[in-house]
Amino acid sequence: METTDDGLDRVIELLKDEAGLDTGRYSRSYLSRRISSRMRSVGADGYDDYLAKVDEEERGRLVSALWINVTEFFRNEDVWELVHELLPEDGEVRALSAGCSEGRETYSFSILTAEKGIDAKVEGVDIDGEAVKRAMSGRYDEVDIERLENLDFLSDINRYIREDGDGYVVTDEVRDRVGFHRSDVSDLMRSLSFDFVLCRNLLIYVNDSEKASVLEGLTEVLNEGGYLVLGKTERMPKEYDDAFETVDSRLRVYRYVGD
Ligand SMILES: C[S@@+](CC[C@H](N)C(=O)[O-])C[C@H]1O[C@@H](n2cnc3c(N)ncnc32)[C@H](O)[C@@H]1O
Repeated sequence: METTDDGLDRVIELLKDEAGLDTGRYSRSYLSRRISSRMRSVGADGYDDYLAKVDEEERGRLVSALWINVTEFFRNEDVWELVHELLPEDGEVRALSAGCSEGRETYSFSILTAEKGIDAKVEGVDIDGEAVKRAMSGRYDEVDIERLENLDFLSDINRYIREDGDGYVVTDEVRDRVGFHRSDVSDLMRSLSFDFVLCRNLLIYVNDSEKASVLEGLTEVLNEGGYLVLGKTERMPKEYDDAFETVDSRLRVYRYVGD
């Protein structure tokens, strides 16, 4: 099986040229892992064999494999418990769910604000158009309702998500606070401003320079005193030490104190 750097480069080129993907932004080890996983799925014996097997369908699968959409309602519930505490007692809160995947994170934030009895506008943004379409629909085939019924900070999940046919749907109260659009987080409009920015489990896939540009964009749309929530395995780069104070280092919650 050919595993040379050269072979990997050729598959990366394919992603760049034929799928129009800006592969330079993703770390090489991440690209290599995702490509290897697709190679295993089609039973390819090396990069040459894989390239010979790539037809239009496989090209689509390869691109999708890069946008890992794994997500769930109230993923890492201890983080949400803290976010619930940090929400103001009244007024309106504005939040951005950057890399929102199919919307479960965005709707979770909306549910939390409804539960707290405050107004909210929550924007969900993702680069993957298909994920955004699913998010907009607010419909889900599977929801682990039993887990959501046991969250301390929610009184009754059935107020926010209800069974509908053979799936689940978010209620109007939850949907009315939320908007979605397909966008690259690096291209956010600087005129926007948010009290909370959730950017969870997106930075792990990108290389250092992309990470810096995403974080720079996010700090520009975050109000002073606002909160940034990263994924639990993600680290705030050292150069942001002065701009953020740590609210909880384990849960990766930070407060923006300005430049
Ligand atoms: C693993 S999911 C995380 C979903 C959610 N934030 C969570 O933690 O449950 C990562 C998402 O980031 C999106 N993504 C990756 N790069 C992006 C970018 N540059 N701009 C916007 N979304 C991006 C992917 O499409 C994917 O839906």
